[in-house]
Amino acid sequence: MGCPGDSVSVSMSMSGAVSASASASARGGTYDVLVVGGGVIGLVTAWRAAQRGLRVAVADPEPGGGAARVAAGMLAAVTELQYGEQTLLDLNLASARRYPDFAAEVTAATGLDVGFRACGTLAVALDADDRAHLRDLHAFQTSLGLPSEWLSGRDCRRLEPMLAPGVRGGLRVDGDHQVDPRRLATALLRAAELAGVRVHRSAVARVTVAHGRATGAVLADGTALAAGRTVLAAGSSSGRIEGVPESALPPVRPVKGQILRLRVPPGHAPFLSRTVRAVVRGSHVYLVPRENGELVLGATSEECGWDTTVTAGGVYELLRDAHELVPGITELPLTETLAGLRPGSPDNAPLLGRTALDGLLLATGHHRNGVLLTPVTGEIMAELLVTGELPGYARPFAASRFTASSPVREEQTV
Ligand code: GLY
Repeated sequence: MGCPGDSVSVSMSMSGAVSASASASARGGTYDVLVVGGGVIGLVTAWRAAQRGLRVAVADPEPGGGAARVAAGMLAAVTELQYGEQTLLDLNLASARRYPDFAAEVTAATGLDVGFRACGTLAVALDADDRAHLRDLHAFQTSLGLPSEWLSGRDCRRLEPMLAPGVRGGLRVDGDHQVDPRRLATALLRAAELAGVRVHRSAVARVTVAHGRATGAVLADGTALAAGRTVLAAGSSSGRIEGVPESALPPVRPVKGQILRLRVPPGHAPFLSRTVRAVVRGSHVYLVPRENGELVLGATSEECGWDTTVTAGGVYELLRDAHELVPGITELPLTETLAGLRPGSPDNAPLLGRTALDGLLLATGHHRNGVLLTPVTGEIMAELLVTGELPGYARPFAASRFTASSPVREEQTV
């Protein structure tokens, strides 16, 4: 698999744009940018970079997969607001604002619908503790000027008649919408390929490094790819890519989420008209209704390493909590149970941009917000790849905030 004969020379212009020349294997190629990982973040980065005139490749054994295939696709900047995450809120809101145009652009480029639905969200409380929690969230949202309306239990049920009679109040957030992440991933893959991105359907065996600089990767099938810049966008796996020096590996951890899919049978009255969510005994539960009858029910949040087992306990707790919220769900067919891994960074915000290794960039660490942050991440990464600089609004998310500041000069693995 090694390609000892490969050589890469890289030059960086004043603008930060990079050109690479290399003699790579016949099956490989030479690119301005190699994106490691073909989930929604990797694909949007590749697509946007190709649109800006760069020669781009993506390496992934199953492009269009990743954590987004598991995700529900809530665009929940306001209802998932957390204390201490106000800076992230600005990025989340910026991306949420871009979604309608972004979805339309992806569809125009590919002919594929991505399931964007401007349906709004209702966050409800089932008992006195949940109600106190929601009241507190509402006060926090209001203090930040976010649109969120307190409703009585009766008004919640007027909006969503399938809610349990015991619902004691809720927050109506008309700006928190949804997209179908599976459709989005499929469409982004098509968009990227149509824009000229070369998709290599193989895993990365190792990133290659020469003279203190990332120079591309060797794939599991032996293909050698030379690239001026290499972007790690492999979700929670980004922190364990072979060949990347320790000091440049991103500090991402896997955060397991178990999720269920139910189906509202054709002809059945619509179950819910918008996303409904709650915190039940401290755990988040949400129900995301799609126009095609799919009802996504999520999600656990578990810090338990690389395990993606669907457990009886996880399924039980999700169904129990969702049943308390919307008792009628128990009559629906359960069509899928699945677990995925969110990429969590130390502050649960994305890691974007340069690492300690020249030529190696990150687009990972999006944790609970990968689907939401897809439009803005594509924009940020393309800007960085073309100009060499992160846009100002993205600087709080610079990957360098957690990595060594001195450049890596050793550990060459050509
Ligand atoms: N943003 C929803 C989740 O991560 O479960």
